Amino acid sequence: MIHLQLLRKSSQTRSRKQLSQLFSTISQISSQPSKPPSFGIAFDIDGVVLRGNTPIGGASRALRRLYDGSGVLKVPFVFLTNGGGIRESKRAAELSELLGVKISPSQVLQGHSPFKQLVNRFENELIVAVGKGEPAVVMSEYGFKNVISIDEYALYFDNIDPLAPYKKWGTIDFAVERTRKCSINSKRVQAAFIVSDSVDWSRDIQVLCDTLRTGGLPASEEGPQPPLYFAHDDLKYQGAFPSERLGMGAFRIALESVFNSIHAEALKYTYFGKLNPVAFKNAEVVLKQQASFIYRELNIVNHANSGSHDFQTLYMIGDNPAVDIKGARQARNPWFPILTRTGVFKGDHHSNYPEFPANMVVDTVEEAVDFILRNEHQITD
Ligand code: G3P
Ligand code: MG
Repeated sequence: MIHLQLLRKSSQTRSRKQLSQLFSTISQISSQPSKPPSFGIAFDIDGVVLRGNTPIGGASRALRRLYDGSGVLKVPFVFLTNGGGIRESKRAAELSELLGVKISPSQVLQGHSPFKQLVNRFENELIVAVGKGEPAVVMSEYGFKNVISIDEYALYFDNIDPLAPYKKWGTIDFAVERTRKCSINSKRVQAAFIVSDSVDWSRDIQVLCDTLRTGGLPASEEGPQPPLYFAHDDLKYQGAFPSERLGMGAFRIALESVFNSIHAEALKYTYFGKLNPVAFKNAEVVLKQQASFIYRELNIVNHANSGSHDFQTLYMIGDNPAVDIKGARQARNPWFPILTRTGVFKGDHHSNYPEFPANMVVDTVEEAVDFILRNEHQITD
């Protein structure tokens, strides 16, 4: 059951405007059946498409409807997730396997994907990458040539983590790498990147405080803070556990609170990912490239130039009102936020999220896609 939720006056005006855009899109498509869609979709992953590694909300069925019978993409879509710690190519392969459709790496936009934009600045500088998965591998693939994971970095400083002997999980053997980078503990770190969720908060907060207070070299004199970048600032997210889990934003609060308690100057940092408008801009650029590709496939030559395509509507399907919905609202036209009940938001059938209301609230991602295809006149049944 779909309910339009128009809880605020400002949102009412906006929603009506966007709905009228929708209906003009429908009539456009009806009169020109060969025209490819003038809309695109951005799917959040955690709490919308997956919980942990389990597909939810009819996600596989919903995604299959965006391809034609022979598996060719007919509706531009991307995954716009704050998750990460894995290369986009690997994540695309995983999602293809889990969801049963062919996802290309360019369709996977992760919280840390915009870090690529900082390669020019830090290409050859020593930088530290923090988080679960393969944060240093991710950064190397973006083009950073002198990146080290915090797991490995901590090993160059004896006793930097006094709790290490009590940590039962042990450490990875970086012996080979250590010979190669034997001067690491005398070089200054030029920036720290929080690529994905910290696995060991106590060690990472300790090592980051040591590094950031000293101009990039633990145990040396205090110095100017190197830049610190977070992939996103999600306080919580929906994983496999029934209630929400603490996310990177919670780690940021902990680090900031400790740093500011032991250092005269407040911690300075930047975060990317949703709800940063840059994330929505990047998604629009990628969706435009896909739309141009679809035009090319349909031999509509006038629209074949990459990036020349204008969307009437871009749908953001998310589960987190404070991130997905707020972000899409702030990104404004042509973004149209749809909130599902499968993740962080757990309101009942007649509620929206009053602080950042979505244009529409649905039970599942499948329901959202059904609504979109009907309204965009793309239903074939
Ligand atoms: O750590 C992942 C989480 O913060 C959010 O993922 O897909 O809901 O943006 P997603
Ligand atoms: Mg989510």
